[in-house]
Amino acid sequence: MKVRWGVIGAGGIADRRTIPGLMLAENAELAAVMEINMELAEKLRAKYGAAAAYDSAEGLINDSNVDAVYIASPVLFHTGQAEQAIALGKPLLVEKPIALTSKQGDAIVKLCSEKKLPAATGFMMRYHAYHAKMREIVISGMLGQVVSCRAQLTCWYPDIPGNWRQQTATSGGGSLMDMGVHCIDLIQYITGGKAKRVAALTGTKTFHYEVEDSASMIFETDKGAFCYVDSNFNIPDAAAKCRLEIYGTQGSMLAEGTIGQVEGGTLSVVLSDAALGYDAKQDRVDVTPVNVAVEFGNMYTREIESFSRSILTGSPVEVPIEDAVQVQRVVEAAYESSKNGMFVNL
Ligand SMILES: NC(=O)c1ccc[n+]([C@@H]2O[C@H](COP(=O)([O-])OP(=O)(O)OC[C@H]3O[C@@H](n4cnc5c(N)ncnc54)[C@H](O)[C@@H]3O)[C@@H](O)[C@H]2O)c1
Repeated sequence: MKVRWGVIGAGGIADRRTIPGLMLAENAELAAVMEINMELAEKLRAKYGAAAAYDSAEGLINDSNVDAVYIASPVLFHTGQAEQAIALGKPLLVEKPIALTSKQGDAIVKLCSEKKLPAATGFMMRYHAYHAKMREIVISGMLGQVVSCRAQLTCWYPDIPGNWRQQTATSGGGSLMDMGVHCIDLIQYITGGKAKRVAALTGTKTFHYEVEDSASMIFETDKGAFCYVDSNFNIPDAAAKCRLEIYGTQGSMLAEGTIGQVEGGTLSVVLSDAALGYDAKQDRVDVTPVNVAVEFGNMYTREIESFSRSILTGSPVEVPIEDAVQVQRVVEAAYESSKNGMFVNL
């Protein structure tokens, strides 16, 4: 049995990544697409062989052949479209960031839980094989106590007049809200800790739009790890390193090029004998590289397959929308800190 998906805002990331991923999923199929004009909706319908095309979210949600809804529209529309899907009892996958504010996110969570509807969010980077491996290593205890984490996601995003991402009213925030959320989520997912206090610097340094193009934040997790996240709209794509680093008392993990939309990059893990003593020369050579061979696939296919499985079998949702709301609270704390120059507790 397959979940028949309807896609709202099918012409952006949905067309670039998620629908191609969905087409490879074993337990899902594309039933309908929605775009803001019928010409584009029809073009996408034909491209992917879907049965129906709509130019209104309401029309797609009301289609009786649509079992579940994927919302990939600009952020300001997420809440209203989610509410419509929930009203008709349709499970939903909502792209990150979940909504303009965590308050709006809370309202979506409440409605879903009242209707007992499965709801997931688009933190698909959790499905990167290396990120799953890093989590496994932390859980195994091999890394010891996790003490320090860094994650980075940047791109080049110059002024584009009228662009929804560059205005607070339509995006909710800039590089931190758009890209930093993946970094925060990955650190929390891999280490199992949740941010409990946050400090940040955010600002528009290079371009002229309203939202920040530069954001650097630190936070401490409830498990005691100190973490650093940076997200920028003003570093050339080809110069971006997109590093993810996790350090523990028994080793380290360095992933490069794994935070992104394509499963790839490299991961190097080294472990050390916890029982070794202090070396004043600090030239201990006792670290051992760990074999981290994985098989690459498609993160978007895994995302759709996992959530479709939850819809079909009732298995727990792997990336629940509650997690996106919690990350949004962290982002809001970062913005507050950037304004008042203080740590903000969560
Ligand atoms: N998880 C990921 O890999 C990933 C990557 C990029 C974007 N995103 C998220 O996906 C969402 C969309 O971002 P994007 O990059 O695709 O933006 P985009 O601007 O490229 O595409 C958005 C699409 O939504 C359509 N749209 C506009 N108004 C709409 C409305 N009222 N209802 C439905 N559709 C409407 C637009 O015509 C456009 O085709 C955002 O929440 C963004 O953060 C996720």
